[in-house]
Amino acid sequence: MRLRLNSISGKTKLPDKRLLSTILSPLCVPWKRRLETLAVMGFIFMWVILPIMDLWVPFHILFETRWWFLVPLYAVWFYYDFETPRRASRRWDWARRHVFWKYFSNYFPLRLIKTADLSPDRNYIIGTHPHGMFSIGAFVATSTNATGFEEKYPGIKSHIMTLNGQFYFPLRREFGILLGGIEVSKESLEYALTKAGKGRACAIVVGGATEALDAHPNKHTLTLKYRRGFCKYALKFGADLVPMYNFGENDLYEQYENPIGSRLRTVQERIKTIFGLCPPLLRGRSIFNQYMIGLLPFRKPITSVIGRPIRVTQTDEPTVEQIDELHAKYCEALYDLFEEYKHLHSIPPDTHLIFQ
Ligand SMILES: *[C@@H]1O[C@H](CO)[C@@H](O)[C@H](O)[C@H]1NC(C)=O
Repeated sequence: MRLRLNSISGKTKLPDKRLLSTILSPLCVPWKRRLETLAVMGFIFMWVILPIMDLWVPFHILFETRWWFLVPLYAVWFYYDFETPRRASRRWDWARRHVFWKYFSNYFPLRLIKTADLSPDRNYIIGTHPHGMFSIGAFVATSTNATGFEEKYPGIKSHIMTLNGQFYFPLRREFGILLGGIEVSKESLEYALTKAGKGRACAIVVGGATEALDAHPNKHTLTLKYRRGFCKYALKFGADLVPMYNFGENDLYEQYENPIGSRLRTVQERIKTIFGLCPPLLRGRSIFNQYMIGLLPFRKPITSVIGRPIRVTQTDEPTVEQIDELHAKYCEALYDLFEEYKHLHSIPPDTHLIFQ
């Protein structure tokens, strides 16, 4: 099997005269940039390292330390609090507004563009694309105030929706819940859109883990053609549909080439069928500089654009035709949004969204 990295690999070769400054660079980085990198490391720790530690640290605490009683205590809390992610969670504004997220978002940097008001007396499903590796644009826009969601959409309570498995990891689930993350399921959506009051906006990364396998720099391939569940529930629960596109999300990491039909992709698809998801073979930068391989995303800007809401009339039993019609309308709105704002990331005029 031939594995080849994407185009940027030419740039990542180390030029000789830069060698010295590369080795020294960690010593002369300004504090502001260090704090930004630290915030991103914290995020990667939370989302990648902590779940792995969760497999053994509780056992270590239970059997090897005098803090063992914390484990059964936490287990009771976990059991008691199990339903919270499907009951609109527990948003804590202090956590969402914390300066940590400012440093985090300035690393890339991130920005959020509003194109229309969202009236707080309606509910919304925000479809957000592309998934990228970690959906950083969508996450920061809807789970923190780092890019100013609160001021841009007064009265709107936003939630990012994610796989229920994300809420099984001790400690990490608490962070997810305090930032307003909710489970991506019918029950959870129904609760947030029909029982939790008006002004809720639930953001769904429609393409999910499948789309992550297409997260290559400068590519805009979306898994959307056959994903219609979000349209069905928008009709059922009477929520307006809002398209959102995160320009630059796919540029944060490189990934081994895996076009559909290649051997790597076939193996990845098989793993996905068995385990429900397949982590992409990603390649980012190291903590100290961008020439060494690591788990950190590249410092590349992301521009999240939230489009105009598509008015949806509540329908108890939507027909296939109604769902298809809304889906077509949504895809068209998303396509237009991409066309209207792609110049912000210097995307060539002949590059368009691909729906597959
Ligand atoms: C939210 O973010 C915006 C933009 O950064 C900022 O102006 C505003 O003060 C923040 N709001 C709160 C309540 O922290």
